[in-house]
Amino acid sequence: MKTIFFTGKGGVGKSSLSATCAWQLSEKGYKTLLVSLDPAHNVADIFETEVGHKKSKFSTNLFLQEANLDKAASTYIEQNIDILTQVYSYTRAFNFDMYFKVLRYSPGVEEYASLTILEEILRKETDLDYVVFDTPPTGLTLRILALPNISITWVDRLRRIRRQILEKRHTIHNITGKYSEEGFRLAYNEKDDAVMQKLNEIWQRYVNVYKALKGESNSIAVVFNPDYLSLKESQRIIVGLKDLNLPLRAGFNNKYEERLKDNAERVERELFGEKPDGSVRVKRVPLDPSGRRDAYRMDFDVVDAVL
Ligand SMILES: Nc1ncnc2c1ncn2[C@@H]1O[C@H](COP(=O)(O)OP(=O)(O)O)[C@@H](O)[C@H]1O
Ligand SMILES: [Mg+2]
Repeated sequence: MKTIFFTGKGGVGKSSLSATCAWQLSEKGYKTLLVSLDPAHNVADIFETEVGHKKSKFSTNLFLQEANLDKAASTYIEQNIDILTQVYSYTRAFNFDMYFKVLRYSPGVEEYASLTILEEILRKETDLDYVVFDTPPTGLTLRILALPNISITWVDRLRRIRRQILEKRHTIHNITGKYSEEGFRLAYNEKDDAVMQKLNEIWQRYVNVYKALKGESNSIAVVFNPDYLSLKESQRIIVGLKDLNLPLRAGFNNKYEERLKDNAERVERELFGEKPDGSVRVKRVPLDPSGRRDAYRMDFDVVDAVL
């Protein structure tokens, strides 16, 4: 499965280009899913059909999905509370319901919800050829893309702490003997310890997402317009992707008009340098003045630039 992310400032044309990209891939015979991670969805409007939190079929090869981050955030917290109550039976004494509402609004939950959606798609939708992502505003997108790496570091630290706990338990077990009350009950081998198993599972999932984002099968495109504000925002995306070590594959200079040629050239130069090294393919997408309804049928070969 290959993935393609469309990033950029609000209004530059991410949704139109990602929809067109998904449509064109499906028309070439590839089984494709278009997922909107932007809370301000417009996939349903673009395809003039009902689209929900779960994927739905639009045509033979095209599936659509508008991720409901509120719902995903609640599911994410519920699942974690379930894990806690399964792994630590004594936590039943805590009133988790009391925390639930607060956690729902805590910083980072939306990013984790998006990461959960992304992880699930990568793990489960293996029979798809392509997944195209329409992304939220720059800051949130970069935070989502940064999360796998951050999470791997955190989970690694937790695994080390857990390992130390298990070693201590082992020592206690050796002193007190197999039948002492505590030593008998508590696991001291990694493979018998439910907490360690869970941490390993979570770690593996984040590693998989991280590898998928960095790998050859992922394409990240930045969409911009030939104007100053979208230039500034695109610069932030490009710097952010570099910091995260994620490769940028394509740049779409959208809503291009001949009369804006000088501006367009300047924006491209500022973004990709005087002599682009060819690692990023830059395409100019002409402004379509017709204001047509079916924005997924843009008259431009989007696929060619991102594959
Ligand atoms: N190449 C284009 N020519 C004309 N209008 C466009 C073009 N690309 C996008 N638009 C229009 O610009 C507006 C914003 O596009 P949209 O795809 O929703 O951007 P984003 O998802 O980045 O916010 C929409 O009204 C869309 O129809
Ligand atoms: Mg959009």
